[in-house]
Amino acid sequence: MSETLILATGNTHKAEEIQLMLGSEVEVKDLRSFPQITEIIEDADSFEGNADIKALTVSKLTDELIVADDSGLCVQALNGAPGVFSARYAGRNATMVENKARLLKNLDGISDRAAFFICVLSVVRCKKVIKRFRGECHGKIIYEEKGEGGFGYDPLFIPEGYEKTFSELAAEVKNKISHRARALEKFSEWMKSQ
Ligand code: IMP
Repeated sequence: MSETLILATGNTHKAEEIQLMLGSEVEVKDLRSFPQITEIIEDADSFEGNADIKALTVSKLTDELIVADDSGLCVQALNGAPGVFSARYAGRNATMVENKARLLKNLDGISDRAAFFICVLSVVRCKKVIKRFRGECHGKIIYEEKGEGGFGYDPLFIPEGYEKTFSELAAEVKNKISHRARALEKFSEWMKSQ
C-alpha cells in the first residue's frame, strides 16, 4: 500500500471516516495540507465529473496518489434529487438545516421513501484519472430527524436491514456499510493488487 494518500476534500468528517477505514498503514492527508487551494468549483452534472474536477485540481500541485470523492443522496420519488446538488439543495449557500427541511418538504405526502447514498471515487496520479470506483448504500428517508451523530442527511436516512438512522448508528457501523465504505473497499482492494 502507498503510505500517503491525498484526499481531495476539505470535509474533515470524510477524511476521518476514510482514515478509519484504511487503517494506520496509510496516512491520509486532506486539503488542509494544500492551503493554496481555496475553492474548487464542482460544476459537473455527474458525481464522476465532480470527483474528477476535485482530484485533477489537486494534481496540479503534487504527483502523489490523489483520491477525490463526490457523494450525495438520490431519492427515487424525486427522480434522483437532490443528487449532485445534495450540498446545496435549498440554494447556493444553503445550510444543511435548510437542505434537510427542503427534502422533507418535497417528500411531504409521498409514501415512497426509497433513497440511496452514492459515492464515486476518482483516483489520479501524475495528472491523469487512472481509476474510478462507485459505492451505493440503499435505504429510506424517514419523516423527522433522529439521532445526533454523523453529518449531512444522516439523521433522515435509515439503511436497509437496520431500524436506526445513520446518525443513531455507531460510526463503526456506518463506516462498514456506507456508500463511501463500499467505494473505498473497492479502492483498497485495487491498491493492494497494484
Ligand atoms: P460532497 O461529496 O462533499 O459534494 O457532498 C455532497 C453532500 O452529500 C454533502 O454535503 C451531504 O449533504 C451529502 N452526503 C454525502 N455523504 C453523506 C453521508 O455519509 N451522510 C449524510 N450526507 C451525506
